[in-house]
Amino acid sequence: MGFRDGWRGVLDGDCAPLDVSDVRGILPRGGTILGSSRTNPYNSEDGEHRVVQTVEQLGLDALIAIGGEDTLGVATRLSAAGLPIIGVPKTIDNDLNGTDYTFGFDTAVTIATEAIDRLHTTAESHHRVLIVEVMGRYSGWIALHSGMAGGANVILIPEKPFSIEEVCGFIERRFASQYAPIVVVAEGALPIEGTMPTRPHEVDAFGHERLVGIGTFLEEEIARRTGKEARATVLGHVQRGGTPTAFDRVLATRFGLHAVDALHDGHSGQMVALHGTAIELVPLTEATAVLKLVSPELLAEAEVFFG
Ligand code: F6P
Repeated sequence: MGFRDGWRGVLDGDCAPLDVSDVRGILPRGGTILGSSRTNPYNSEDGEHRVVQTVEQLGLDALIAIGGEDTLGVATRLSAAGLPIIGVPKTIDNDLNGTDYTFGFDTAVTIATEAIDRLHTTAESHHRVLIVEVMGRYSGWIALHSGMAGGANVILIPEKPFSIEEVCGFIERRFASQYAPIVVVAEGALPIEGTMPTRPHEVDAFGHERLVGIGTFLEEEIARRTGKEARATVLGHVQRGGTPTAFDRVLATRFGLHAVDALHDGHSGQMVALHGTAIELVPLTEATAVLKLVSPELLAEAEVFFG
């Protein structure tokens, strides 16, 4: 059975059988044929009860929850309440703890890299600073990987508040070498407090801010400080669309196989995870306890190429 629109479908018992003929042909498709929502069952008093009731009424043996920290955070709580459940890590953000990669990430990085490749043309022809704002929420994985792959002048991520003065220094150095700069900024990146203007964000059902806009703030600030023309491109949902990469298709397929095997083997409260090339199980509690962030060591590798 497949539930429509994530936890919304489980709460409402909105589902349909998913047999082989229903999923045939979905490998090259992005997104989800089931739909998605930002519904949090724990936002209503009887949410947990309604989920358990749906599972019982349909006579299901267990749930397989596919998603990021929000979806799997709910799965963790339902598992603690006694519901048999296995998690599958799916988010472009790559920020789930306990797995080397989540599926969706490689596709988002590939799209962002292609966009950066294309932006080099205008940066160089027009002698402009081009700023590319990518997603990733509170982690800088997409920015780090696409920025390194696309030869960014500087990469700004939430894990390290940036100095706008230093960023402008890198930009001027790049112009001095007759090469136009590309700044890759993660949507969650922030300047060192009080050093440049930003604005607060709206909050969703999981209490997360709707992050967007840092690229535009940088555009204004960089132009003002360097006197160069600066333009921001916000990639937004383009990063979540289209055909998934081969890597993501293989990873998603392997995660699916292992999730079903885990349930057959009597496991619950676990998430399938990629460790090197092996798929293993990690407790959902561990996977959702903290976000997996870019380490200072990894960022330092990228910093060698700044400026
Ligand atoms: O978690 C995935 C993600 O794409 C984040 O990178 C981004 O901040 C958020 O979702 C955007 O959510 P929405 O599509 O609801 O605006």
